[in-house]
Amino acid sequence: MLVLGIETSCDETSVAVLDEEGRVRSNIVSSQLAAHAPYGGVVPEIAARAHLENLPVAFEQALFEAGIEVSEIDLVAVTAGPGLIGALLVGLSAGKALAFARGVPLVPVNHLEGHLFSAFLRARGEAALPVERPFHGLVVSGGHAELVRVEEGRIVPLARTRDDAPGEAFDKVARRAGLGYPGGPVIDRVAARGNGSRYPLPVGRPGDGSNDFSFSGLKTAMLRELQKRRVNGGRPGAFGEPQGPPQKDYSDTLIDPESLEPDVVDLLASFQRAIVTALLDRVETVHREQRMRGLVVSGGVAANSELRRTLSEWGAARGVPVLLPERVFTTDNAAMIAFAGLLRYRENGVQDSLAATARSRWPLGS
Ligand code: KG4
Ligand code: ZN
Repeated sequence: MLVLGIETSCDETSVAVLDEEGRVRSNIVSSQLAAHAPYGGVVPEIAARAHLENLPVAFEQALFEAGIEVSEIDLVAVTAGPGLIGALLVGLSAGKALAFARGVPLVPVNHLEGHLFSAFLRARGEAALPVERPFHGLVVSGGHAELVRVEEGRIVPLARTRDDAPGEAFDKVARRAGLGYPGGPVIDRVAARGNGSRYPLPVGRPGDGSNDFSFSGLKTAMLRELQKRRVNGGRPGAFGEPQGPPQKDYSDTLIDPESLEPDVVDLLASFQRAIVTALLDRVETVHREQRMRGLVVSGGVAANSELRRTLSEWGAARGVPVLLPERVFTTDNAAMIAFAGLLRYRENGVQDSLAATARSRWPLGS
């Protein structure tokens, strides 16, 4: 059995082929970074257009690399949400057309569920690791922070962010610091040479006793600290979502991370430490409440070196196996969508999948 996966929820156009053992036969990821870079963030209309252009090419390439014909596809798995509606519609429509034309089933996949199971995929043509439930999952990305318990047949949400996602905080701080988009990888590199305990930055918890996350206070505190130091790499008033064409190419204002003052390097390292500490704190609390049997950490922010190290050490100390995705599967890709689709298909089969609609919001477990 061969599964074709399609992912177009944000700024990566991706098509993958997976076999029934979760072996990745091909995983083409076409990034739109260059198209969005002048704006310092993802512009939805540009994303949708770029998907339209890139998807047929990625599709051909995915089949070619997997060495298969379109007639050999048995199942189509496509991201139906959450994400940018215009972007999602491109992949979902293509997936439906393909499934209809070939007479094969289509599974609409929750993008976060894709991330959740991405940690089980192996990069070098090996079968996926066996998925043994129950386990806990922490999905941390540019749009989400969700902590869930994955049981047989259901996903129980335990905590999510009340405001910004951690990746979003990385991106906005990096943008203000003039470090470009996406912010996570560059702050990760800069933080490696800084002192993360120099500035203890506060990360709030909602006052209602829930385990939810909140990162907007930290982000605002950071922006204030950067301003105090006259670090302002973005366009004037650059904070907030990009609107309309930039007054001037944002990438002109980028600065070389090597040229950052040591004090700013320490500040960025402290910012990263604060995010990692908040995530660890919630993982620890939930572990105390529920005794985790295993923890799976995924999403773009799961590429972060300090987070990977900290959670692995935590798991070793508590006797909780911690599973992290291989780095190629941390950021958006269609292999994870194909795999989540395959698991869903095995669990539930498919019902009237051509009626699936794109959903901009779609929390895990709903
Ligand atoms: O999962 P993803 O590719 O897209 C979403 O579904 O959001 O995640 C992208 C996010 C961006 O915010 C990016 O800055 C962040 O993941 N990211 C990182 C790192 N690599 C990517 N954040 C922290 N450290 C990293 N090394
Ligand atoms: Zn994602």
